[in-house]
Amino acid sequence: MAKVTYVQPDGTSRTCVNFEGMTLMQLAVGNLVDGIDALCGGMMQCATCHCYIADEWLDRVGSAPDDERTMLEAIDGVDIRPNSRLSCQVQLGEELDGLVVHIPAEQPGI
Ligand code: FES
Repeated sequence: MAKVTYVQPDGTSRTCVNFEGMTLMQLAVGNLVDGIDALCGGMMQCATCHCYIADEWLDRVGSAPDDERTMLEAIDGVDIRPNSRLSCQVQLGEELDGLVVHIPAEQPGI
């Protein structure tokens, strides 16, 4: 089980509970979290699942690997930061219980 808190740009937040090892994107979509649209369904083709990992969690989650970073850079309108991740590429597990992520103010193409 992993509890994840999604923080919106206005500071409001929702905490969702994952019981089955979903990705960070799947948990958000399944709970109708605003700002995670995931238009490609997790195929790393759209970047509409972009999020920012809270600084205190970045070591545990890890930075975006090269292919993910390349994808983020290829899409116009993505405000890429050192803690940027595609939420569809982050697998949730017990080690990420308590994770906090921030939703960007805008997603590409939305
Ligand atoms: Fe499209 Fe993650 S859902 S890149």
